[in-house]
Amino acid sequence: MLNKITVVGAGNVGATAAQRLAEKNLARTIVMVDVVEGVPQGKALDQWQSGPVEGYDSRVYGTNDYEMAAGSEIFVVTAGIARKPGMSRDDLVKTNAGIVKTVSENIRRVAPESIIIVVSNPLDVMCYVAMKASGFQRQRVLGMAGVLDTARYRMFLAEAMDVSVEDIQAMVLGGHGDTMVPLVSYTTVSGIPVTQLLAKDKLDQIVTRTRNGGAEIVAHLKTGSAYYAPSAAAVQMVEAIVLDKKRILPCAAWLKGEYGLHGVYCGVPCKLGKGGLEQIVEVTLTAQERTDLHASAEAVRSIQATVGV
Ligand code: NAI
Ligand code: 2OP
Repeated sequence: MLNKITVVGAGNVGATAAQRLAEKNLARTIVMVDVVEGVPQGKALDQWQSGPVEGYDSRVYGTNDYEMAAGSEIFVVTAGIARKPGMSRDDLVKTNAGIVKTVSENIRRVAPESIIIVVSNPLDVMCYVAMKASGFQRQRVLGMAGVLDTARYRMFLAEAMDVSVEDIQAMVLGGHGDTMVPLVSYTTVSGIPVTQLLAKDKLDQIVTRTRNGGAEIVAHLKTGSAYYAPSAAAVQMVEAIVLDKKRILPCAAWLKGEYGLHGVYCGVPCKLGKGGLEQIVEVTLTAQERTDLHASAEAVRSIQATVGV
């Protein structure tokens, strides 16, 4: 258990993440910071008072400034605006870049040794903003998207094959957008290649549904985007770091030559432990997967080039 974890943004993803952190007993103190007066305070009190029922002692605080977050070991950044129908994640870039920049400067001020997990969209570009504005090394600025995209992919596969999702091993790499890259060549069901169990046209449909997984939910909700699975995914990354589990999870990381890519955030297999990003695992991809990964990274780079930090 850590001493303190702070979630910035007490909206749908942030508040649900704070609740999950408390329920998993990952920190003694959980802080939620938001710009809206009263909302983080009210939600925090409500969550704290769930403790006797859910069986946790974590103290959850809500605040509008960063003093209470001082010394936090991990920050989960969910501040920003979310998508509405018809909007792509990239449509959020200008507004959210300004927000994530301010948030990251505050994090550097109150917790210069912390690890930042970015959730705000467009995810990969917001990681870049957070790294630049915080001045932290890449080991301490990671993005959550691949865990979510992979969870969706695994769930669709499990349903199509009528098997337990526990037995689906898979990874979705690339940027968190329409160009993401589900690695079919590494998708297995208890070690059996998925291509032996599912017809190509069905697999193709699942890959497409995975790429549109966020938009499918936005189309239903109309006023916002997904938050139950996204918060669960962010907390899985936090847990891997807090418990020093050395898990290999697909995360957005700053690439310095890995997979032939330089100077761009992109989803790749990452080892997570107490140091944050401890290793980027490089695996052999098929020619098509490598081409798709590069195309996805270039799509991120073109948006990254438009933000000044
Ligand atoms: P939301 O609108 O429910 O919550 C956002 C919160 O951020 C609001 O409470 C707002 O007041 C707060 N906020 C705005 N400016 C702030 C600032 N400067 N400091 C602190 N708080 C600030 O949105 P939701 O659904 O929680 O989504 C949050 C972000 O996460 C969005 O950008 C969304 O697109 C992204 N997202 C990313 C996912 C991923 O896989 N990476 C998955 C789901 C959402
Ligand atoms: C999602 O994939 C909106 O990025 C968010 O649900």
